[in-house]
Amino acid sequence: MAATPIVYDYSRLIVPDAAPAFVRQTALVGADLKYIAPRLAACRQEVLDNARLWVTGGPVPPEKQPLDAGFFDLPNQFLDEEREQLDTIVATANRLAEVCDRVVVLGIGGSYMGARAVFEACCHPFHNELGAGVRGNRPRIYFEGNNVDNDAMAGLLDLLGEADDWGIIVISKSGGTLETAVAFRVFLEALKKGCGGDMGKVRERVVPITGETGRLRDLADALELPEVFPIPDGVGGRFSVLSAVGLLPAAVMGANVEQLLEGAAAMNDVFRHSAPLENPSLDYAGISWLMQARRGANIRVLSTWGKRLEAVGLWYDQLLAESLGKHGQGPTPLTAVNTRDLHSRGQQHQEGSRDKLITNLVVEQPQREPLAVERSEYDQDRLNEMAGRTLPELLGAARSGTDKAYADDHRPTADIRLPQLDEHTLGQLFQMLMIATVAEGRLIGINPYGQPGVEAYKRNMNALLRK
Ligand code: PA5
Repeated sequence: MAATPIVYDYSRLIVPDAAPAFVRQTALVGADLKYIAPRLAACRQEVLDNARLWVTGGPVPPEKQPLDAGFFDLPNQFLDEEREQLDTIVATANRLAEVCDRVVVLGIGGSYMGARAVFEACCHPFHNELGAGVRGNRPRIYFEGNNVDNDAMAGLLDLLGEADDWGIIVISKSGGTLETAVAFRVFLEALKKGCGGDMGKVRERVVPITGETGRLRDLADALELPEVFPIPDGVGGRFSVLSAVGLLPAAVMGANVEQLLEGAAAMNDVFRHSAPLENPSLDYAGISWLMQARRGANIRVLSTWGKRLEAVGLWYDQLLAESLGKHGQGPTPLTAVNTRDLHSRGQQHQEGSRDKLITNLVVEQPQREPLAVERSEYDQDRLNEMAGRTLPELLGAARSGTDKAYADDHRPTADIRLPQLDEHTLGQLFQMLMIATVAEGRLIGINPYGQPGVEAYKRNMNALLRK
């Protein structure tokens, strides 16, 4: 497949040095770029050095702990020396697809958000409603274990009934996350019942993905589950979408996992070889940080155009929030879905506090034949004036119109442009945003790995519940 690179375009954020002061206050000038370029080059070196440490198994200096830099080389490894593991993931997915009409993915945070992003971006928007043939005989997909919502879980159990044609992928790196563990116990019981107590059948239908040690690993051993996929040390939850954590569910739903990895590997190449200010991952980190540090844009709005990238936005919200929201610092991420949210957030983005950087996430070509407005004898809605216009044209006009309205009020926006939405571009995007998050962490002196703040609620919750 010919590579179709995604583009980060920040040109509208740059104004001439001679622009009036009030214009310069809301955008960036040449001096900002001059300041950031060498710093980005240093960040790139640090990111690459850290990634190298993971590959060579070199000692991690104490000030770098924890260091989960393994995500960087993962795509290249799967495509080269770990190819056999990739084949095993795909084979397991195909086997699950043969015995299961439905697969429930259990996990929370980084253990499910990537898979959900792939599901919404790459599968038919009504995948679960389609007949098996139209789904290419891939299972219907459900996400649980990401809450403890009684009625939601009971509703999914209703759907599964007492059948044996479904399976579970349970994902937890630590193996001890309560929400996921509780859901696994509930769904495992239901599956045992559905299989009439036949543990052979149950074992065919349950695949855990977990760290080398922990409660889920112990449980998998005790249940004698034949296949357990590891999450390598040095690959953190929110950086694990291109490990078995994202790849197994993606392969089950029928996504092309090889292309996801190829896309990510292509982004690694660009990161390694493109100069700062021409390097999407680095530039996105540097420009976003400049807009925050120098122009007060503390809120990062990822404005997705169309419906299929919302879950990618939520995955990125988690990535950015958990990675950089530390020590009283870090931008606040927010996903918007347009044109939908122009009718809910548009007013604030147009006229509210000047504390936002809006980055459009744009897909340039739809996958399907464009639908068009047809001429009608009933023209009370006055749509004949735009007869022949396609939905992509309408969406493009909404975006250009919105960008212009913001620009007219000196609220310039940037773009991340995907030539089309497929596994290759999605792989590039995942990798670009993960690299950018780490690079920005290094830029501002925050360790992007680990989430010490989340431990407090877990401790308190367990203390309240365990006898
Ligand atoms: O990014 C992270 O590390 C977290 O969001 C985890 O993915 C999340 O807390 C789930 O953890 P675990 O996979 O250990 O159940």
